[in-house]
Amino acid sequence: MALATEVIGAERAGAFVRSHAERHHLLVVEEAGEVAGVLAYRTDWFQCTLVSLVCVREDLRRRGAARALFRMVEEMSPGPRLFSSTEETNAVSIQMHSALGFAPSGYIDNLPQGYRELLFYKRLHP
Ligand SMILES: CC(C)(COP(=O)(O)OP(=O)(O)OC[C@H]1O[C@@H](n2cnc3c(N)ncnc32)[C@H](O)[C@@H]1OP(=O)(O)O)[C@@H](O)C(=O)NCCC(=O)NCCS
Repeated sequence: MALATEVIGAERAGAFVRSHAERHHLLVVEEAGEVAGVLAYRTDWFQCTLVSLVCVREDLRRRGAARALFRMVEEMSPGPRLFSSTEETNAVSIQMHSALGFAPSGYIDNLPQGYRELLFYKRLHP
């Protein structure tokens, strides 16, 4: 919940985590028995899998946690089309998507966040 709050704010985090947990669409990586990172996804987005949130604890970043989380969602995805997204201002996340083999796949304007949301796509093996 704390990691989700960091990305989407306290107001949205509760309902967001609950709804993903209920559908078993919430993955975590642990370090010494504590949650080090979280990834939430959905499988009903235009018949594709969409990563809706990923966040790693600040003191545990750059050690492969996000890479491990994406590996997990790739294994669990029911279909071969995996999408993810990030705000155009998030240089680290853009770099991460490129390092993990995602290609740019358009963007969404007119969101309340005020910045363009960039979409990324990765074709998985069937
Ligand atoms: C983006 C984020 C999830 C990455 O998590 P992480 O566990 O540190 O990422 P990994 O260690 O698995 O890194 C995977 C690759 O991404 C790239 N990367 C990750 N952090 C980077 C950084 N600070 N600068 C440049 N490249 C980076 C690297 O290519 C890295 O591979 P390498 O270490 O072998 O070079 C993490 O920084 C985070 O939680 N940020 C805040 C929340 C956020 O912005 N979420 C994404 C949008 S919803």
